[in-house]
Parts: sequence; structure tokens; C-alpha cells
Amino acid sequence: MSISDCNRSFEGKTILVTGSAGFIGSNLVKRLLNGTDKVRIVGLDNMNDYYDVSLKDYRNRELTGIAAERKSASYRFVKGGLEDKALIEDLFESCHFDIVVNLAAQAGVRYSITNPDAYIHSNIIGFYNILEACRHHPVEHLVYASSSSVYGGNKKVPFSTEDKVDNPVSLYAATKKSNELLAHAYSKLYDIPSTGLRFFTVYGPAGRPDMAYFGFTNKLIRGDTIEIFNYGNCQRDFTYVDDIVEGIIRVMAKAPGKKTGEDGLPLPPYKVYNIGNSNPENLLDFVQILSEELVRARVLPEDYDFEAHKKLVPMQPGDVPVTYADVSDLETDFGYKPKTDLRTGLRKFAEWYYDFYVKDKRV
Ligand SMILES: NC(=O)c1ccc[n+]([C@@H]2O[C@H](COP(=O)([O-])OP(=O)(O)OC[C@H]3O[C@@H](n4cnc5c(N)ncnc54)[C@H](O)[C@@H]3O)[C@@H](O)[C@H]2O)c1
Repeated sequence: MSISDCNRSFEGKTILVTGSAGFIGSNLVKRLLNGTDKVRIVGLDNMNDYYDVSLKDYRNRELTGIAAERKSASYRFVKGGLEDKALIEDLFESCHFDIVVNLAAQAGVRYSITNPDAYIHSNIIGFYNILEACRHHPVEHLVYASSSSVYGGNKKVPFSTEDKVDNPVSLYAATKKSNELLAHAYSKLYDIPSTGLRFFTVYGPAGRPDMAYFGFTNKLIRGDTIEIFNYGNCQRDFTYVDDIVEGIIRVMAKAPGKKTGEDGLPLPPYKVYNIGNSNPENLLDFVQILSEELVRARVLPEDYDFEAHKKLVPMQPGDVPVTYADVSDLETDFGYKPKTDLRTGLRKFAEWYYDFYVKDKRV
């Protein structure tokens, strides 16, 4: 199915996107608003201050602006939390969602070590509320964010959805794996078509300041020193946000089919896919490309002394040395594979950063 066929398949549908003021959620809503006609989108986000809320406000303003221009697609934003069961129930009752994309979550591996409550509230209780709502108000498809972190310290690369993922090394990873287990049980018991997407290190303009590419940039511009973990011996499968969004849209348009098992009972309409670039980059190469692109975009001066602002440090708790996605299932089932190379993606990030922070002297 081409991307325009996917967009046509959403005509007349009502879609809930949770985490709509977040990095991936706002990009998904943007793409849906721009590419789809006769679609009603409801966004939900609690606008928490895990990172700079002005970024979430900025994304919301962009979405409201696009929605105002688009007459044949509507967008409504609801401020609220997944853990508010009554709110979720009311939303499902009044909106009759056809497709639900659950991207709201407490993200971040390191933060989960010091703030476990946030993960239990949003990722466990919140996700349970979404499942319950889908049970009582049947939907065509529930798509939800999982994470490459479920692979923990998996030695075998590339990471395949066939690999055993029973050894999470952070609470964040454990909540994401729990989401997959809960979704499986609900798919089996209540016939809810669900697809979990394991995203691999997503980056891009207006991204998350807690992630390395953004945090490094903030530090370098302030003249601080960046810390490169595991002495640089890390590899990450960086995936550009537009590629992630295209993957989500393709997946949204095709719910897992309902089939009967050998025992005559229905098989759960349940799938899990990796969405990653399938091209892991060495952390030191990543820092080198980021440095070059920050200079090119005039975020940093040409004579910036990068060597003086770099420190190689040991591995951090919860971190993993490598992530590398096997995306062959995504290719087979959806004819799609992310493809933006790191330099192109970081160039777009650096240019956005210049416009957003440097041009108007916000930093
Ligand atoms: N960005 C990545 O590299 C990456 C990688 C793997 C998985 N993921 C997952 O993808 C999803 C989206 O990630 P993102 O990078 O856009 O993160 P993000 O933090 O930018 O977006 C999440 C949004 O959800 C909102 N939110 C958090 N808890 C909520 C709650 N209880 N109720 C309502 N809203 C709530 C936040 O305010 C935020 O705007 C998350 O589930 C994340 O765990 C992201």
C-alpha cells in the first residue's frame, strides 16, 4: 500500500493520538493533517514538564495553525493524563475512535532510575486505561509505542522481534515490555487488533532535549563539556522522525488480521515490529557529524574547539552498548524501510535549532 493509499484509508475516520504535543506524536498529527482528507484527529497530552514545556507549546501552536488552514481535516487538543481513567472513558465514549495511536508515555532510560513513579503511572496504569477503553469501545486498530530498549543487552545483532526480550535493564524498558504483554492478553481476550512498534533512537527538528544529539548541542553552545558514554564504544541505530512517522502511518492503515488457531479458537490479532534505520552508527562518528552540521548551520562558530569540550566516560546504569534494528518484517508486510542517513537528519535538526534558539537569541 502506498502512503497516499494509507491516507485515503483514513478518510471518514476518527483517530486518537496520545502524546500529541510530544516529539513523535506532534509529527504524526502534522503528517496526518497535511496528507489526509475528511479525518478527525483528537490529540491528548498532559503537557508535563519532564523537558522544556515551551517546546510542547511550540509543537501545539504548529498543529493548531495547520488545522486552521485545512478545512477537510479537523484537530482537537485535549489536555489530560492517561492515568485519568474517567477522562479516557469519556473521550472514548464521546468520540467513537476508529484508530488509536498511543504515544504518550514517560520516556527516558536514565530518568526512570530516579523517578520510577512517573513510569508506573503513565506507562502501566495509563496504558491499562487505554486497553480498557478499547475493550469497552471497540476500535479497528490500536497502535502503541514500544521501544528498542526492550532488547536490553541483547548480544545478537541485528535485533529481531523473534529474539527473547525477558531481561530489561531499566524500569523504562520493563514498562515497554509490559505494554506488549498487556496488549497481547487484551488482543487475545477481547479481540482488539493491536500493533506495538519498537522505535530505535528517534531524532529530528523540535525533538527531545533529553536525548544525546539535543543535549550535546545545548551543552556545546553553553561552553559545557559533553560526556560520551562507554568511552565512545556505543552504537545507536538513529532513526529520523519522518521515517518513523511514515512507518506509523503505514502500520495504522493495516491492522493485524483476525485468524483462527489450530484449536479452533481465535488467534490474537497482535503484532510487534521494529522501526529503525537498520544502520547503527558509532557514537564518536555521530558526534563528529553533529559537530560539522552545527558549524554548517551557524549554531557554533567555525573555530569551536570541540576536543576541549568532549570527555569520554564509562557506561551508565540502564544503558546498552548497541542498538541495531532488523526491519525485515516491516519491509515484507508494509514494503517500507526507514532511509534517511544521519548527516541529512542531523542537518535538518541543526538548521531547526538555529532558527528556534540561535537566530532569536533564546540561548
Ligand atoms: N524518541 C525516541 O527515541 C523513542 C524511542 C523508543 C520509544 N519511544 C516512545 O515513543 C513515544 C513517543 O516518544 P517521544 O520521543 O515523542 O517522547 P515525548 O516525551 O516527546 O512525547 C511523549 C508525550 O506524552 C506526554 N505524556 C507523558 N505522560 C503522559 C500521560 N500520563 N498522559 C498524557 N500525556 C502524557 C508528554 O507530555 C509528551 O508530550 C513514547 O512512548 C516513547 O516511550 C521514543
